[in-house]
Amino acid sequence: MNMLKAAQVREAADYILGKTGIKPEIGLIMGSGLGILGDHIENAVVIPYADIPHFPISTVEGHAGELMIGTLAGRPVVLMRGRFHMYEGYGPDLTAFPVRVMKAIGASKLVVTNAAGGVNTNYSPGDLMLIADHINFQGHNPLVGPNDEELGVRFPDMSQPYSKRLREVAAGVAKEQGFSLQEGVYIAVLGPSYETPAEIRMMRVLGADAVGMSTVSEVIAANHSGMEVIGISCISNMASGILDQPLSHNEVMETTERVKSRFLGLVKGLIPLI
Ligand code: HPA
Repeated sequence: MNMLKAAQVREAADYILGKTGIKPEIGLIMGSGLGILGDHIENAVVIPYADIPHFPISTVEGHAGELMIGTLAGRPVVLMRGRFHMYEGYGPDLTAFPVRVMKAIGASKLVVTNAAGGVNTNYSPGDLMLIADHINFQGHNPLVGPNDEELGVRFPDMSQPYSKRLREVAAGVAKEQGFSLQEGVYIAVLGPSYETPAEIRMMRVLGADAVGMSTVSEVIAANHSGMEVIGISCISNMASGILDQPLSHNEVMETTERVKSRFLGLVKGLIPLI
């Protein structure tokens, strides 16, 4: 099955490279409501996921479902507007597929963003958190199955899944722009139901600072591919049970909307420096 995967990645990559002369150096995956970063990309070539061989199609509200290639802050980039989540029914290997394609078309760095619930009670909605590390609580791994050495080693190292160097760069950019970042551990769950208060208490004991339903499959595949990764979460709500109120996707979208310009400013500020 994975023998096929390398061929599929190549087919998707060839299709994309046939549409643009730009060879991206940086891959960007923007979470809910943040695809608007695409509006800042110059000379953009826009390719609907549906047109790319073997690409899954995104279904969740707030995700456009297209790949954009162009220049951002002077650097060639490839941006995913909308990502694939396991809760949509995709396997973890499919959620990771676009990362492999990004690598195949030239990207050696990956910037991932997401919206996440604050598990750490010192956090507030609207905080931005550098992901220092993650806990894969999704019950699966995108590398399960026969390994294709063409894509990476059988047992990839995960001792620094999020680059310390890039985190330091990001902290510097934020400081320069006049705000500070939280830094913590992201725990990924399958979803799509939000967590119960008991689950959140458990996650806090396990060492998690923020919880979300994405990112880890992509980051595992990126590490497998030898990419350097930076991850940033927007704390869009306090996790279940912390405040006396229910959680909703509307709250997630509203908070993301509120801090969007700061979030996008940070990502744009990073691009020339990484
Ligand atoms: N839990 C899981 N995923 C999320 C949350 C949350 O509280 N907020 C945004 N994505």
